[in-house]
Formats: sequence, structure tokens, C-alpha cells
Amino acid sequence: MPISFSDITLEHIDKFSRMLRKHYDIDFSGYNPAFLRRRIAGRINRIPLASVNQYYKYIEDSPDELGMLLQNLTINVSEFMRNPEVFDIIGVDILPELIANKNNLIRFWTAGCSKGEEPYSLAIILSKMGIGSGKAEIVATDIDEIALKKARRGIYKRTSLKNLSQNDRKIFFKNSDDGIYKIERKIKKSVIFKKHNILTGSDLGKFDFIMCRNVAIYFGKELQVKMYRRLIDDLYIGGYLIIGKSEVLPKCSIKSLSTITLEHRIYRKVK
Ligand SMILES: C[S@@+](CC[C@H](N)C(=O)[O-])C[C@H]1O[C@@H](n2cnc3c(N)ncnc32)[C@H](O)[C@@H]1O
Repeated sequence: MPISFSDITLEHIDKFSRMLRKHYDIDFSGYNPAFLRRRIAGRINRIPLASVNQYYKYIEDSPDELGMLLQNLTINVSEFMRNPEVFDIIGVDILPELIANKNNLIRFWTAGCSKGEEPYSLAIILSKMGIGSGKAEIVATDIDEIALKKARRGIYKRTSLKNLSQNDRKIFFKNSDDGIYKIERKIKKSVIFKKHNILTGSDLGKFDFIMCRNVAIYFGKELQVKMYRRLIDDLYIGGYLIIGKSEVLPKCSIKSLSTITLEHRIYRKVK
């Protein structure tokens, strides 16, 4: 019988968190327990094993298993121009405003960038506006090394490009017959990928634009507050913050922001 997510206790979660912290220096202890339970149970049932104790033993005997568990906890689902209406607003309103009002380098950060679809989407829009790396810098970070490796390779299946027009696919990708798309070299070179934990990672400097979407959904309340505090601190006054469409900013974070559109979760730092 498959194990249920309620078979995963807080003690189990604590033990897995300690193992992952020790091996990968990533701390899951403040993540949403319901999310961790579901993901751990899902991994155990995929093997499949009948109990958490069997899984501890399995981890001891299989050198790659802890990495597989980590992969299960860092969900990498993404796509180019995810929520296309948000990217429409970025292209039509936000970027022209930033370009018109900033004389020096405009700095973008996509935090929790997964396999690169989000930062490359920004790079595509900027390229279409004729803005190159001399005027814009895109920093893209994630804790997941495997996702970052894929991001740096820049190779995608057709499904992750479904929001792009045929013309954009043609201009910005090399397409082979087997349905594999390789991002164009100039776009690839315009994104700086870096392994980085939003919660504990080093200072990356100040930004004019930060996108952090579909990352906070996995965190408990306290970590959400910590993460948004950091992101807002790292924004220049007047800089933009864009979060995931199902995410909600903690009350204390709203104070230093004005809402550009609640529907699309776009905010601007005012103080
Ligand atoms: C669902 S993906 C979101 C990708 C993209 N932002 C989007 O919305 O399409 C969530 C990403 O957040 C990353 N992540 C989770 N916790 C993180 C942390 N503390 N610091 C940096 N990245 C983190 C995961 O590794 C994963 O790649």
C-alpha cells in the first residue's frame, strides 16, 4: 500500500532537513510542512517503499537518492513567458519606463529562475527592444544546481515554448527535427546564472527589477517574510517587484511598496 502524506511526521521532516542541510547546505526546515510531506511521500511511493524507515535505509544504500529527494523538493516547473499577460505589462509599461528614466545600467534579478525560462524571456523582450548587455544586466539565481546546469545549456522541449509566437521561436531558438529548441547564443550570453539561496545567499547588489515567482508558495510564513524583506531591501527606490500570481505579500512587506496591479502581482518600491 502506498504511504500517505500523513505518515510523514514532523520528526521525519526534521531528519530529512538535517540530512539535506548536511549534504547540500540547503535548509528546508522553514518550508511549508504540508508541501514537504506531499513531496517526500511522493518520492517514497515512486520507488516504491512501504515505510519511511525503509526509505532511510534506502538512502544509506543508494548514493544518488538524497539528490533525487532534493530534486523532488525543488520543483522546477516553468515555461517561457509564464503568465504571458505579466510579460505583456513588462514589455509595454515597465521596461520603457525604466529605459527612459535610467541613464546607467538597468539591473534585473530573477530569483528562483529554475531552468532559465524566466530570465531568457526577459532577455528576449529586451532584445526585441534593442536593449543589449551594455544597458541591461540580468542576474538569474537558484539553489538547484541541476536546474542551473540545464539553464546554462539552454535546451528546451517545444512545450515550454508554447507561449512564444512562431516568429520568436524562429528568431531566438535553433530548432532540430526532434522537437528540441536551443536558445540563441546572444540571448544565452546576456544572462548571468549563479547558484544562490535567496534566504541566506550573498549580497548581489541593488536591482531595478526583481522577479521572484512561484518560490514563496513552498515556504512557511516566517521564511516568506524573511525572503520578501531581503528582496525589497535589494531593490532601488522606484524598482519593481513581481511575484507569482497565486502568491500573497505579507502585510509588513506591503508598507514600502505601491501596488501597480494586484491582479498581476506587480509592485513598486516607494520607500
Ligand atoms: C517553480 S520554480 C519557479 C520558476 C520560475 N520563477 C517560474 O515562476 O516559472 C521554483 C524554483 O525556486 C527554487 N528555489 C526554492 N527555494 C529557493 C531558495 N531558497 N533560493 C533560491 N531558489 C529557490 C527552486 O529550486 C525552483 O527552481
